[in-house]
Amino acid sequence: MSSSAQAAITVDPAVLEHPSDEDYATSGYDTSTASLTNSIREYAFENGRRYHTYFGADKNPLPTDETEQDRLDVHHEVFLILLDRKLHRAPIGKSPNRILDVGTGTGIWAIDMADKYPSAEVIGVDLSPIQPGWVPPNCRFELDDAELDWTFRPDYFDFIHIRNLSQAVTKWEKVLSEAYRCTIPGGYIELAELGGVAHSDDGSMSPDNGVKVFLSLLDSGLRKMGRVASATGESLRANLEDAGFVDIDIFTCKQPLAPWAHDKKLKQVGAVALLSAPTGFHAYGMAVFTRVLGMDPEEADMVCKRATAAVMNKNNHIYTYFYVVHGQKPTEKE
Ligand SMILES: C[S@@+](CC[C@H](N)C(=O)[O-])C[C@H]1O[C@@H](n2cnc3c(N)ncnc32)[C@H](O)[C@@H]1O
Repeated sequence: MSSSAQAAITVDPAVLEHPSDEDYATSGYDTSTASLTNSIREYAFENGRRYHTYFGADKNPLPTDETEQDRLDVHHEVFLILLDRKLHRAPIGKSPNRILDVGTGTGIWAIDMADKYPSAEVIGVDLSPIQPGWVPPNCRFELDDAELDWTFRPDYFDFIHIRNLSQAVTKWEKVLSEAYRCTIPGGYIELAELGGVAHSDDGSMSPDNGVKVFLSLLDSGLRKMGRVASATGESLRANLEDAGFVDIDIFTCKQPLAPWAHDKKLKQVGAVALLSAPTGFHAYGMAVFTRVLGMDPEEADMVCKRATAAVMNKNNHIYTYFYVVHGQKPTEKE
């Protein structure tokens, strides 16, 4: 882990000046929470969200409605700030030929990559057709399940990118063996995942904090589904090595969930992350809590709301880790 990822984050004194009560209405951040309302009415709804079921009802436990699409785009900005506006860390050179984004979501990363590398053909694959039609000419999207056999030729992509997919995939071995097969010798793969554990450096997070409770329930539910709730740099490294990739590089940093940090960049990260907190907890929690853990919707919704309240409370200085791990497919000589 890099030394910056180990250092405690100093809390902004302006945040500390707040009275230490648990009432987030008085001690919370001055920001509005986004509405959960969405305008799509022609799909199957559950708890007010639209889920995509074409590849199986439980394939992706997250909704893919407009609320979720907005959240994904906001989170893209969080990742960009954390990475100093870099779209990736793997040293892919100035003119890659083919780039693949697996589980592309709204395609925002793929579109940015197509703009950045006009020489490259950038393909985004997802279960859901939620990508825009108006995209750079060198970018396109395909509908497919990454856990099935890939249709791409062997030794095809210079770079394969997979971000924020851990909660959706059961067969990582399959996904990464297909990724290995489809990467050119000497090409790169990069995995970017948030850790599913909440931390605080100053003891400001009690064991019954809403975020901790939320993440622990999410962990139980995802485990029941055979999913990995909490990736780490080392677990991602192991997955890449098992698939055959070498020269693994692990980047780790902290992602505050609200703008409580003194550091300017981390405060910005927290401010943007906070914008998507209410819909994010709802998106990650509802299907897993109700379908897998058998909670009733009101109870599940309350867990999500308590997590949001905990993040909104200026007295809780909570962060998760963000891991970006890349590896290389050996060249033929190797
Ligand atoms: C949390 S979103 C992340 C989107 C995008 N990677 C990002 O970082 O903005 C996960 C996305 O992966 C897609 N997904 C989940 N399982 C998948 C699978 N087996 N094959 C392809 N896409 C998948 C979902 O439909 C969803 O759009």
